[in-house]
Amino acid sequence: MRIGVFCSGGDAPGMNACLRAVVRAGIAAGHELVGIRRGYQGLLDEDFYINSSGEPLLRLRSVSNLSKLGGTILHSSRSEEFRTEAGLKKALDALEKHRIDALIPIGGDGTFHGAVALARRWDGRIIGCPGTIDNDLMGTDYTIGFATAVQTAVEALDKLRDTAESHERLFLVEVMGRHSGYIALYTALAGGAEVVALPETETNVAQIVQHLQVLKARGKQSIMIVVAEGDELGGAEILNEGLKKAGCPFQTRVLTLGHLQRGGTPVPSDRILASRLGDFAVQAVIEGETGAMAGEVHSKVILTPFQDTYSKHRPVPEDLIRLLNTLAN
Ligand code: F6P
Repeated sequence: MRIGVFCSGGDAPGMNACLRAVVRAGIAAGHELVGIRRGYQGLLDEDFYINSSGEPLLRLRSVSNLSKLGGTILHSSRSEEFRTEAGLKKALDALEKHRIDALIPIGGDGTFHGAVALARRWDGRIIGCPGTIDNDLMGTDYTIGFATAVQTAVEALDKLRDTAESHERLFLVEVMGRHSGYIALYTALAGGAEVVALPETETNVAQIVQHLQVLKARGKQSIMIVVAEGDELGGAEILNEGLKKAGCPFQTRVLTLGHLQRGGTPVPSDRILASRLGDFAVQAVIEGETGAMAGEVHSKVILTPFQDTYSKHRPVPEDLIRLLNTLAN
């Protein structure tokens, strides 16, 4: 079988480890691996990884030392052209021309929407791996890259706490998560933040200020507020303005972590998850499975139909919100 593998959408630490696992597991089972560069755009442009012998194939050595490497050696993109009828047609033609029998896309909900569109018109097999820092997909406890993104954000919070204590300040730290509060909640809990602002919960400025006044009266000298970029008020800058207007008792500063969270060496748990799911995706296509994402739930690898991974909003754990509020007192 010829298996095409690619990364699509926002990159995530661990995508390379997943690619390595797909390639090594595929070759071990006697299959050929084609690396498609730049996501769906690369498929319709026939933009393939070329190995050192000049062939459009990934070899065992093409993925050497990849586990520890952030980003993706295949590059990633969000393709507008693929969403058009002409783009989809080009992708189908490329799959036929290059005799690709199966695809393993590594990405998030946008990537899986694309896989569903492709699967409607193509009779090859498609099994995805969840590569996104957002942890916003159903069908896996964690997505590849989430743990590393949280690690990066917590390191930032720890450093900011030092300067916040020195100057008796409040920091608003904005983390990624367009539609999901997962990164924000885990960062806030691990980093000992006093307040978290999530898209899933109401952010009430007056209540926050009241809480800050109580904390100040109790002798708190510094405050960390973690804000998900998708918070309904519009992010850390806007929340900061609101807090100041409502009489925030601390001097404030804002830091947006942004794409910093998408880079860096993947933490071991991301490498292991990526390796396990990459291998499982290969076994699944070999067994004839299609139209689903490989995920890990309660330590077991499972398949979930693509539509079920993104059609419902994945709620953040409410007990963790409660815990944060208890501990922040
Ligand atoms: O999908 C992951 C994500 O990190 C989101 O949390 C964020 O809003 C988005 O990517 C930004 O991506 P880009 O700048 O690449 O469009």
